[in-house]
Amino acid sequence: MPFGRFWSSTIGKKVVMAVTGIVLVGYILAHVTANLLIFAGAAAIDAYAAKLRTLPLLLWGVRVVLLLSVVLHVVAAAQLAVRARAARPTSYRRFEPQASNATSRTMRWGGVALLLFLIYHILHFTTGQAHPAFVHLAPYHNVTTAFRVWWVAAIYIAAMVALAMHLYHGTWSMFQTLGIAHARVNVARRRLATIIAVLVPLGFVSVPIAVLVGLLR
Ligand code: HEM
Repeated sequence: MPFGRFWSSTIGKKVVMAVTGIVLVGYILAHVTANLLIFAGAAAIDAYAAKLRTLPLLLWGVRVVLLLSVVLHVVAAAQLAVRARAARPTSYRRFEPQASNATSRTMRWGGVALLLFLIYHILHFTTGQAHPAFVHLAPYHNVTTAFRVWWVAAIYIAAMVALAMHLYHGTWSMFQTLGIAHARVNVARRRLATIIAVLVPLGFVSVPIAVLVGLLR
């Protein structure tokens, strides 16, 4: 099927969401693992950031793939939302969900919140405009000075709750879209979605919490 026809079909957009979702989860897994280096001390995480800058092809390759994935993921989600609304122009008089739960119903607004978080996060820790004491290539200093301010830590912790919900439902639906949804694999599917949605946000929030309690200074 030519890409134009694939992209304009509803299932095509869902497949694009699933595939870009896999790319984004892959990046998030690598990012959370790298973040844990902060517990090995300033030298370890700062050296890691410096090492990445000696590999510009890898760094920019990852950035381009990531940006493309985020754009496709968000555009497909917005278009699917418009289609779903057009298919049901009058809202339910009484909303009684049949097959949804809190995580599936918050995908849209949770997704918007994560997008806003991501923009803030890049201005905060990568480019520095949103960080009052930013030092280029000093992630240990940037992270510890940022999270000493309780409301900055709170923004990150709240964003990681949104991430947990998004990852749970996203991982679960990705398999559905890709046709991996037989009753036999559903237990494994549910388990994998739970493991990813719990461990990844826990790994991320461990950093602001460690700064707040004085474990990292
Ligand atoms: C407590 C949670 C988090 C902390 C402490 C954290 C920390 C950082 C730091 C220090 C950087 C700058 C790295 C450098 O310049 O070498 C960074 C960059 C980045 N982070 Fe995070 N991060 C967190 C959560 C997230 C989440 C949940 C996402 C995705 C949804 C994310 C996506 C990114 C992206 C896209 C970049 C830019 C990478 C680049 O320069 O190419 N981060 N993060």
